[in-house]
Amino acid sequence: MKQNIEIFETAFVTADFRATDVALSKDRYAHLWPSEGTKIYRKAYVDSVSRHEPFAHCLRNRYFLEAIENLFNEQKIELLINFGCGFSMYPFLLPKTMAHIEIDMPHSINYKKEKIADWCASKKLPKRNISFLEADFTSNYEPQLLEKIASIKGNKRSFILLEGVLFFIGRPETERLFKLFSTIQGTDEYVGSVSFQKEIESRTAFKKLIQFTEERLVANEKFCYQTVEDRYYLNLDDYAMVDHQNTFTVANKYVPATILDPDEVLDEHFYVLKKK
Ligand SMILES: C[S@@+](CC[C@H](N)C(=O)[O-])C[C@H]1O[C@@H](n2cnc3c(N)ncnc32)[C@H](O)[C@@H]1O
Repeated sequence: MKQNIEIFETAFVTADFRATDVALSKDRYAHLWPSEGTKIYRKAYVDSVSRHEPFAHCLRNRYFLEAIENLFNEQKIELLINFGCGFSMYPFLLPKTMAHIEIDMPHSINYKKEKIADWCASKKLPKRNISFLEADFTSNYEPQLLEKIASIKGNKRSFILLEGVLFFIGRPETERLFKLFSTIQGTDEYVGSVSFQKEIESRTAFKKLIQFTEERLVANEKFCYQTVEDRYYLNLDDYAMVDHQNTFTVANKYVPATILDPDEVLDEHFYVLKKK
C-alpha cells in the first residue's frame, strides 16, 4: 500500500536526503532521523519526481552551513534562528559556542526536542545551547513567539534561516514572516531564504513534484504551492540582498564535474539578505 505523509513529515525526507552524501552535505547526524517508512517514501519520491533531489538537498545544507559558519567566524553573528527547522542539524555542525533557536509546528518541535535530549544523554550528540519554540505560521503566532525570541536573543546578532518552508505557505504568511524578521533583527543581521522561481513550473521535474505532492501529501485542502521571484526579496524595504545562488551555481562550486539535466532538477534559489 502507498504510504502518504503530512507536511511536517517532509522534514524526515529532507533529513534522509542529506544523509545520502555526508561528504557533500556535511550533516553527519542526518541519518539519526529517517525511519524505514521515510526511506520507502524517499525512494518513491526520487523515482517519481527527480533523481537529483538527494544531491540538491545535500548542496543546500552545505551552502547554508558554510554561509552561517563564515559569518560566525567573522564575528558577525552569534545566534541562528531557524524558522521551520524540521530535523536539520546545524546546531551540531556549527561551532559549539553559537546559540540556537529552533522553531517549528508544535508536534514536530516537541518530537525534535525529546529526541535531541535522548541523543545528548546517550552521547550520540554533543551538548549545544538550543531553545525549542512552537509556532504555526498560519496562526496568530507572532506576539507570543516574538516575546520568547526577544528574551532569548537579547543583543545577540542573528542569522534567521527559512529553508524548505516557503513552498508550503502562502504569500500573506510569507509577508508576516518577513515583517517579524525585521522586528526581531537589528541593522547588519542576516536572513537566509530558499524558494522556487515561477519559471520552474514549466520543468518536467516540477510537474512531477506537484503531481506526487497532490497524490501523496496529506493536506487539509487541495495543495497550493508558492513560488517567489527575485523582486520580492529585492523590494523588501528593510533588507539588502548580499548573495543569491541556485542549485546549479552551488553544484558548480562544490562538485564542478556534475552534469545535470536542467529539466530534471528542482532548482531552488538561495538568498542571503542583510538588514539595513
Ligand atoms: C521540507 S521541511 C524543511 C525542514 C528544514 N528547514 C530543512 O531544510 O531540513 C518543511 C518544514 O516546514 C515546516 N512548516 C511547514 N508549514 C509550517 C507552518 N505553517 N508553520 C510552521 N512550520 C511549518 C514543517 O513542519 C517542516 O519542518
